[in-house]
Amino acid sequence: MSEKRIDPEDGQAYTWDELSEYYAGKYKKKALAAYWEECTVVKKKGKAKAKTKAEPKGKAKAEPKAKVKAKAKAKSKPRVAGPFKVCVCGGAGGIGQPLSMLMATDPNVKELCVFDLSVAMVPPAGVAADLSHLEKPVKVTGYVMEVGKNPIDHLEECLTGCDLVLIPAGMPRKPGMTRDDLFKVNADIAKGLVEACAKYCPNAMLALIVNPVNSIVPAMAELYKKKELDPSKIVGVTTLDCVRANKFVGEITGKNPKFINIPVIGGHAGITIMPVFSQDKAGASIDADKIPDLDKKVQDAGTEVVNAKGGKGSATLSMAYAGARLGSSILAGLAGRKRVECAYVKSDVSDLPYFTSKVVFGPGGINKILPVGKLNEYEEKRLEEAKAQLKSEIETGIKYAESNNLA
Ligand code: NAD
Ligand code: LMR
Repeated sequence: MSEKRIDPEDGQAYTWDELSEYYAGKYKKKALAAYWEECTVVKKKGKAKAKTKAEPKGKAKAEPKAKVKAKAKAKSKPRVAGPFKVCVCGGAGGIGQPLSMLMATDPNVKELCVFDLSVAMVPPAGVAADLSHLEKPVKVTGYVMEVGKNPIDHLEECLTGCDLVLIPAGMPRKPGMTRDDLFKVNADIAKGLVEACAKYCPNAMLALIVNPVNSIVPAMAELYKKKELDPSKIVGVTTLDCVRANKFVGEITGKNPKFINIPVIGGHAGITIMPVFSQDKAGASIDADKIPDLDKKVQDAGTEVVNAKGGKGSATLSMAYAGARLGSSILAGLAGRKRVECAYVKSDVSDLPYFTSKVVFGPGGINKILPVGKLNEYEEKRLEEAKAQLKSEIETGIKYAESNNLA
C-alpha cells in the first residue's frame, strides 16, 4: 500500500498518485514533489504497519516516487511563507468575514486588513479583533469609513504595501434580480475602491468578487488602462463556478470532488457560465444526455442560493471558500509557486476582450492565460451562446469606463 500524507490544505490523507492527479496543472512536477515533502506522513497503526510490511518488496521498489522525492529534496529551497499584505474590502460583510478568516490562516499572509463601512453588520475593528486571536502569525487590522466618504481619502495606511486586494464590497442579489441589476450601484462602489488601489497599491493584484463580474471587471480594468496602469492586475473571481461544477460532478460520479477539476470558462452569469465537462476524467465519464441539465445546474447554482436565502443575501460561505482558494493561489504564484485557476481577465484567447479561462498565476501575478482547449460539439455550440451574452455585458463595462475616470 502506498504511503499517505496529510495535505495541509484540507487535512486529509492522500497517496502521491492521488495528490498528483488532483494538483495536475496547478503545480509542476518539481513543485508538487516539494509540496509532497512538506506534507506530514500518516503514521500507521500497529495493524496497518504489519500489512504494509507483508507487501512484496518489489512492488514498493517499483514506485517512481522515491526518485522524485529524493530529487525534490535535494533541489527544493526551504519554503518561506510569503510576507504578503492582503486587504479584504467589504471584509465585515457576508462573504468578507469568512473570507478574511480563511486568508488569515494562509501562511503566505503576514498582514491582513479588514476594511468596511461604518454601517457594516459588525464593525471591521471587531472582525479584526476576533481574527487576531487565531493562533497564526498574521497581524490583523480593521479599517472603517463613514458611508458617503471617498476611499481614496481614507485608505492610505490600509492599502499601502498591499500585494492582494480582495473585493467582495457591494450589494448582493435578492430573489427575482439578475446580477446585471446590481451594475450601477456596485460599479460605483468598485470604482471608489479601485481608485484608492490605483493610488496606494498600483502593483497589487485586485480580485473582484463584486457582481456583476462580467461588466465590473472590464469597467475597472479599462479604467486602470486609462490611467496607464496594468489592466491585468484586475482579476474577476469565478472560482465558485469551478467549485460547484466539481461538487456536482462528484455527486453524479461518486468520485471525490477534490480530484475533479472542471474548467468553467466564459463569464459569471447565466449562460456565460460554461463548464467544460469533457476536459476532466470524471466529467467526461458522464452520459452525454445528462450534460445539458448538469450544465444548467451549474449556471443556476447562484440563483438557487439566492432563492434559498429568501432575500437575506446570496452565496457567502461557499464564495468565501472559493475566493480564498483563488486568493491563496495568487499569493502562492507571487511567492514563486505557480498555480492554475480559472479566472475572468483581459484576454485574447477568444474574440472577446475579457474572458474566463485557465490562468497561470506566478511571480508577476498573471503569468500566462491558457487557451480554451479542445471542446466537443455540445461545448462548441454552448461557447457561441456564452460569447453572445458576454459580449453585451462587456460592452456595459467598457461604456462605464469611457464615461468615468480614476482620480
Ligand atoms: P454583504 O452585503 O453581506 O456584504 C457586502 C459588504 O460590503 C458590506 O459589509 C458592506 O458594508 C460593504 N461595502 C459596501 N460598500 C462598500 C465600500 N464602498 N467600501 C467597503 N465596503 C463596502 O454582501 P455579500 O454577500 O458579501 O456579497 C458581496 C458581493 O459579492 C455582491 O455583489 C455579490 O453579488 C457578490 N458575489 C459574487 C460571487 C462571485 O462568484 N463572484 C459570489 C457571491 C457573491
Ligand atoms: C453566485 O454565483 O453565487 C454569485 O454570483 C451571487 C449571485 O448573485 O448569484
